[in-house]
Amino acid sequence: MRSRESLIPKPYHAAVERWRETFLPDFQFLMDNWDKHFPKEPHFKLCAYRELGMCNEVECGEDQGKPKATKPSELSDEQAQHLLGAIKAQASTEFGSIQQHRLTLARAQSEQDQMWVLRMMAEELRHGYQMLHLLTEGDWSDRSQQSSADMVEEILSMQTGSHLLSAFNIDFDSFVDNIVFCGLIDRVGKYQLTLQKVSAYQPMAESMPKMLREEAFHLAAGVVPMRRWVTEAARGEVYVTIDMLQKVINKWIQRGLEMFGDERGGGSNVRMGLKPMKNAEAQEQYRRECDKLVQDLNTRFVRARLPNLSPKEAAEVMTKVLDEDGTVQGITPQDLLRLPHRDFFRRRGVPAFTMVGFRGEAYDDVEAYALHLRRYLPESYLASKDFKDYFATLRQVASGALDAVAASRQMPALRRVAGTCPCSKSVRWVRDEPMTAEVVAPA
Ligand SMILES: [Fe+2]
Ligand SMILES: [Fe+2]
Repeated sequence: MRSRESLIPKPYHAAVERWRETFLPDFQFLMDNWDKHFPKEPHFKLCAYRELGMCNEVECGEDQGKPKATKPSELSDEQAQHLLGAIKAQASTEFGSIQQHRLTLARAQSEQDQMWVLRMMAEELRHGYQMLHLLTEGDWSDRSQQSSADMVEEILSMQTGSHLLSAFNIDFDSFVDNIVFCGLIDRVGKYQLTLQKVSAYQPMAESMPKMLREEAFHLAAGVVPMRRWVTEAARGEVYVTIDMLQKVINKWIQRGLEMFGDERGGGSNVRMGLKPMKNAEAQEQYRRECDKLVQDLNTRFVRARLPNLSPKEAAEVMTKVLDEDGTVQGITPQDLLRLPHRDFFRRRGVPAFTMVGFRGEAYDDVEAYALHLRRYLPESYLASKDFKDYFATLRQVASGALDAVAASRQMPALRRVAGTCPCSKSVRWVRDEPMTAEVVAPA
């Protein structure tokens, strides 16, 4: 595969480096120790990669077969607005996840886990950079009220609490969050990137392949430690219990489902050739993949506990325990993980603010639902601002003071309590410097 490497104009590049010094202070440590931990991987580089030789005809929707747009002026107004929104949202998630991961990065129990997460954070920075490249390379001036500098500034100024999607406004409480987030939320990223790989906007499509290759590593950074933890739990270790892992999965997975957008939507993206699949279909595929992950973890638990069983026998024991909700060969239902019902603890989309329990049971009393959530979510998360805001809104919906549609509109914009972040108001990331962009030789 051939790709072209580019840098964004100097003042923006410098702004990203300044941002990195604040939110990714361990970056230099990663660079200094890269060869020790990733000897076979090429050194990390902060730049945008564009894959060469990709399909140049629109792959789905009304204009299928026509040439793809190569610059903003070739897009329809509707396409341009959708794309700008998607690029900003994507950029917000990339930078946002670094802000979350850094809170608990130092709490890893294993050096390898920590280095993997650190590498993943550097790659998220590159993904954010790749999105800034899309915003600053093309001329969006007659498509957006904002200048390029303001778009870059807006994205770099977001904090946990002001990002565009809920999953990126939730604080991490322990290193288990770092890992489960990689396994579940980066998996949504993988879906979004795969969908955008067919984009009718060629620069978007060409940005995806390298990001997808990096995303595969992010999933591994989540799945490998989870596999180790369930195996250790089966042997009686107390570090990360199944109960803890289950609760952290419950904290994140529904936010992952909601990242696909409302279950009724996505049609216009398909029509405009920007994505090949509607929201509900992509969300369902994602959920099935998460289910496979959970079943894989369960099978590993059973095999570690009962090493004499064949993989097939272990899978049978797992299925029996889950289906019959009873103990089989000493494996109890509490030993195994389950995915919550798709409508459990939702705040966006069709089931938003319906009170549905972990197994799909309906609640009509908000206080009983509070007790239920208390049993299924991590205690540290119950003490968070995010949960408090959600539950206060749920109370309003349950009492009839607010309808569910208005309530879910309120949800992604959970601003931080004013003034908690000393750098949010005073720093301007983009400074006035001459605008020069460099194109590096193709890799
Ligand atoms: Fe990413
Ligand atoms: Fe990622």
